[in-house]
Amino acid sequence: MKLVVAITGASGVELGKKFIEHLPNNIEVHLITTNNALTVNHFENKNNITFHNNSNIAASIASGSFQVDITVVIPCSMNTLAKIACGIADNLVTRAAAVAIKEQKKLLLAPRELPFSPIALENMLKLSRLNVIIAPPVMGFYSESQSVDDMERFIIGKWYDVLGIENSLYERWQ
Ligand SMILES: Cc1cc2nc3c(=O)[nH]c(=O)nc-3n(C[C@H](O)[C@H](O)[C@H](O)COP(=O)(O)O)c2cc1C
Repeated sequence: MKLVVAITGASGVELGKKFIEHLPNNIEVHLITTNNALTVNHFENKNNITFHNNSNIAASIASGSFQVDITVVIPCSMNTLAKIACGIADNLVTRAAAVAIKEQKKLLLAPRELPFSPIALENMLKLSRLNVIIAPPVMGFYSESQSVDDMERFIIGKWYDVLGIENSLYERWQ
């Protein structure tokens, strides 16, 4: 399975990193971030991850023919959300999202802002109607979370669930 993870400039970059950390090793991960140095250092020992420069519009994942299965943007800034909703593809993150939409592949956006403006909500509704999964990092209170780490595991587990990635990251409701 080929999976693109894009990390944009909203707060919650840690969630994007931890999303990758919990992935099974047999998934081919393609990572795009606006903060390359930080993230490359973080993952230098992982050999299933390919790093892409956000300005490299000629990267493999910029083409539908590369056949990416799943694309996620975690966290997704309101800026990137707006561009994706308008079909703007001016960097590798927005291009990868545009490719996922045109190829009708799974695309998950984790918009991070509080509160959401009407513009952001309209952008989310527009994308949701195109089958884009709008899944902001919302805490769950039924899973016996005792720490921030538990909360993060809950949110990442819910993202994996909706993407069909098997996990036991959180205590399920019985
Ligand atoms: C410390 C800091 C935190 C930010 N947090 C958010 C955020 O949570 N959500 C958001 O939409 N933008 C946030 N921004 C603003 C974005 O970084 C800014 O809009 C940027 O242009 C987004 O660019 P990108 O979409 O290319 O990553 C934050 C900026 C800073 C400096």
